[in-house]
Amino acid sequence: MKSSNVFYLVYTLSLLLGLLCVIFVITWSKGYRGGFAWDGSAKMFNWHPVCMVTGLVVIYGNAILVYRLPFTWSSSKLILKLVHATLNLGALSLAVIGLLAAFGFHNKMHIPNLYSMHSWVGFIAVILFGLQWLLGFLCFLLPCTPLWLRAAYRDVHVFFGLCILAMTVASCLSGINEKLIFVLNAPNSTASYKKLPPEAYLANILGVLLLCFSLTIAWMLLKREWQRPNLHASALSDATEPLLTED
Ligand code: HEM
Repeated sequence: MKSSNVFYLVYTLSLLLGLLCVIFVITWSKGYRGGFAWDGSAKMFNWHPVCMVTGLVVIYGNAILVYRLPFTWSSSKLILKLVHATLNLGALSLAVIGLLAAFGFHNKMHIPNLYSMHSWVGFIAVILFGLQWLLGFLCFLLPCTPLWLRAAYRDVHVFFGLCILAMTVASCLSGINEKLIFVLNAPNSTASYKKLPPEAYLANILGVLLLCFSLTIAWMLLKREWQRPNLHASALSDATEPLLTED
């Protein structure tokens, strides 16, 4: 099969998986955890998984793919960079809302903050994500950034981009597992986690979908022949081109 056909197959699969992740996390929060509110209750907490999965995995995963889509290669580089930056800003905004939901719930219920491994890894991921956005903005958007710095930073940006995806998926998987253990093993629960009630099925499948989504994204990012052709031809000129310059 032609390489571009394989790309579109994997890309379609990633879109489908991303959509399923969002549907599953909303169904879990709405159908099994009581829906949404912004009042410090468990319903406020429900924004946390929805915002994190949608923002830091699905939207972020699509944002880092922008330069790999063959149908965008003929468009202006400026537009691609702006789409990349805007999608990432959307993901970051959702992450902040998701964190506020978790902290707000903990504070109202007098639960300590940042005690779990999940919260440590997740918090570091969000800080790195914020720094990555800021440094990307400063290095690639500002025309006054020296060319050597722009070129030197490019590889670091790409490396941390993938690390952040790995960390956000790890945070989601640990968070899903933690939540299932909390709610299904609570004294008032009708079926414990080990009995695998429908809620556990749904959330376990959500975890597997998140993993598969991130693997398709990593595959498309890492395969050299699916990178923008001009990246092969002139990596330096591409890396050093300021964001605010048309191709
Ligand atoms: C990128 C994704 C995620 C990040 C960065 C993240 C980050 C965090 C942070 C920083 C906290 C601490 C809040 C506090 O101490 O008040 C937290 C709490 C929590 N999160 Fe997440 N989270 C993510 C995804 C998820 C998902 C998908 C779930 C699934 C339900 C989840 C479940 C929880 C639970 C149950 C808590 C409270 C217990 C604890 O602090 O560990 N998280 N999260």
